[in-house]
Amino acid sequence: MATRSRSLRVRTLIAGSVAALGALGAVMVMPNADAAASTLGAAAAQSGRYFGTAIAAGRLGNSTYSTIAAREFNMITAENEMKPDATQPQRGQFNFSSGDQIYNWATQRGLQVRGHTLAWHAQQPGWMQSLSGSSLRQAMIDHINGVMAHYKGKLAAWDVVNEAFNEDGSRRSSNLQGTGNDWIEVAFRTARAADPSVKLCYNDYNIENWSYGKTQGVYRMIQDFKSRGVPIDCVGLQTHFTGGSSLPGNFQTTLSSFAALGVDVALTEVDVTNSSTSQYAGLTQACLNVPRCIGITVWGVRDSDSWRSSENPLLFDGNGNKKAAYTSVLNALNGATPNPSSPAPSGSSGSPSPGGAQRIVGAQSGRCIDVPSASQTNGTRVQLYDCNGQTNQQWTLTSSKQLTVYGSRCLDAAGSGNGSAVQIYSCNGQANQQWNVNSNGTITGVQSGRCLDVWGTGNGQQVQIYDCNGQANQRFSLS
Ligand code: G3I
Repeated sequence: MATRSRSLRVRTLIAGSVAALGALGAVMVMPNADAAASTLGAAAAQSGRYFGTAIAAGRLGNSTYSTIAAREFNMITAENEMKPDATQPQRGQFNFSSGDQIYNWATQRGLQVRGHTLAWHAQQPGWMQSLSGSSLRQAMIDHINGVMAHYKGKLAAWDVVNEAFNEDGSRRSSNLQGTGNDWIEVAFRTARAADPSVKLCYNDYNIENWSYGKTQGVYRMIQDFKSRGVPIDCVGLQTHFTGGSSLPGNFQTTLSSFAALGVDVALTEVDVTNSSTSQYAGLTQACLNVPRCIGITVWGVRDSDSWRSSENPLLFDGNGNKKAAYTSVLNALNGATPNPSSPAPSGSSGSPSPGGAQRIVGAQSGRCIDVPSASQTNGTRVQLYDCNGQTNQQWTLTSSKQLTVYGSRCLDAAGSGNGSAVQIYSCNGQANQQWNVNSNGTITGVQSGRCLDVWGTGNGQQVQIYDCNGQANQRFSLS
């Protein structure tokens, strides 16, 4: 107690000077309130959304590729590495090496990961292709259980079922469909039981046009699932605009109609022939106009990385330069208004679920946890400051318990003892960068078990970790 009182006096003096400096720095250097974000991920985060890309494990060694990917995006999908042929090449023998390579690369940089995909007629391993009937049904269940156990609690969403419909809205005939019309709901029920914390999505292409037969077929299935309590949280619209398919005028209607069924929607594999700027801007704006459209993923980084590279459909050219379509998307994202947060997936607890960027507001001070002067320098201590909605006060709770800012920096405890500084640092996947956001308002360090704590309430007050004591200076809300 004596030690704490003495250090309190010393800290009060230091805090006073720091507060003055912090406030001065903030006034002089912070960007103005409506400053535009300069990367896709940060721009999307302003409205609580993400902006993602597909990643191929084999390309991560290319520094142009990985530099752009880590800088611009805050949601990652494995392009092929989490599919059934990759994850269970022999029956009963799971292989997560490539999937984990992508998962680790992403989470070490504070990026979230979508899982793609568990049950699909394509990219099945040879042994699965030759199964049918009840043995295939069991193999599907075993596959879902095996893969989801490995990634349990780690992913933002899973594309549980992929591309199960024909263009006319009927079910696609496949070996999976041959096991019985209930195969899709069995897949979703299995998935919910395997990992109750992850959002479960149905994912398909050519479901962007509201008046198209396939769109209506998928819509009816989601409607049926919701009415019967089959667990489903989201619909992924792949948004491949190619081969005569382009941005439909009713795209926003499609998104809002699905959302009205009580699911999130996301654009999951966007690419557009010759990167039409108007189509890219339009699809982005449609998502921004629908509160439950939670994010956009493009299907690759540079044109040369695309599965249809001859059509130059992505946001960066083969040399890694930003294309005009990039600017049209960034501008649209920067023009968005804040998004009301979407509900947590059913089956999750009362604690905040991973998702879009939020403020961390002190219960005692009413002030926000802020990175002084919008610094991105490793080791910059965070402080309290008047909430202003800028990116240096926007934190994303990831599925791996990180609190990220600017997409690539993590809230980091510089030590584990009482009084250790809380700072920003490049995300590295370690326990001193993991936080439990608790229902009693405290935020505790996974490594230290101690609480985020401030000694005062003023602008510039620095944040530390300290033994949890139940007081208001250790309570925060994410909002
Ligand atoms: O890795 C092998 C390589 O060793 C071999 O030499 C080469 C010869 O063809 O093939 C390589 O594998 C290819 C793999 O991509 C990696 O590049 C496969 O043949 C090729 O079929 C595979 O294509 C993928 C395709 O799904 C398969 O269905 C694309 O990369 C991937 O972008 C694409 O993604 C799908 C989504 O999952 C679902 N929606 C549609 C989307 C586009 O088709």
